[in-house]
Amino acid sequence: MAKASVLFVCLGNICRSPLAEGAFRAEAKMLGLDVLADSAGTGGWHTGEPPDPRSIAVARRNGVDISRQRARKVTKNDFKTFTHIYALDHTNLTGLQAMAPRDATAELGLLLDLVPGHEGRAVSDPYYGDGSDFDATWRDVVMAAQALAGRLAREGWRG
Ligand code: 4NP
Repeated sequence: MAKASVLFVCLGNICRSPLAEGAFRAEAKMLGLDVLADSAGTGGWHTGEPPDPRSIAVARRNGVDISRQRARKVTKNDFKTFTHIYALDHTNLTGLQAMAPRDATAELGLLLDLVPGHEGRAVSDPYYGDGSDFDATWRDVVMAAQALAGRLAREGWRG
């Protein structure tokens, strides 16, 4: 089967989706999956910036380096170049649905719908929170990353 490419989308692309990308890259590597991963925001205020220092810190505490990521805004073209796009919350999912071009080919969904028992839940925004909120974000994205990497491996996306 073709190579899977996964785009994780939140609002600013500095807190949640960089963690989702980092956690997924780590899980995919552990399973020997050859996949492309990226993240983006539905808003463009932080374009070109590295992830929030609190996101970099929680990832680092868990052995994952996300410091070289840079924020960007999602584009219409992303709906054709990625095979899977996951929104971190409902607002961003609605925003993505509204901007999807007619000829979109990516499968679009809510990230925690991938996790049995967590369907319909949002990864809540830790931007105005504290360190414990970033720990909760990390736990959510790791659950999703494990579920997604396992699913892609079972489906035979090996590149
Ligand atoms: P994120 O968090 O969507 O998880 O990256 C936010 C980061 C920045 C802003 C909002 C949410 N902001 O309004 O600048």
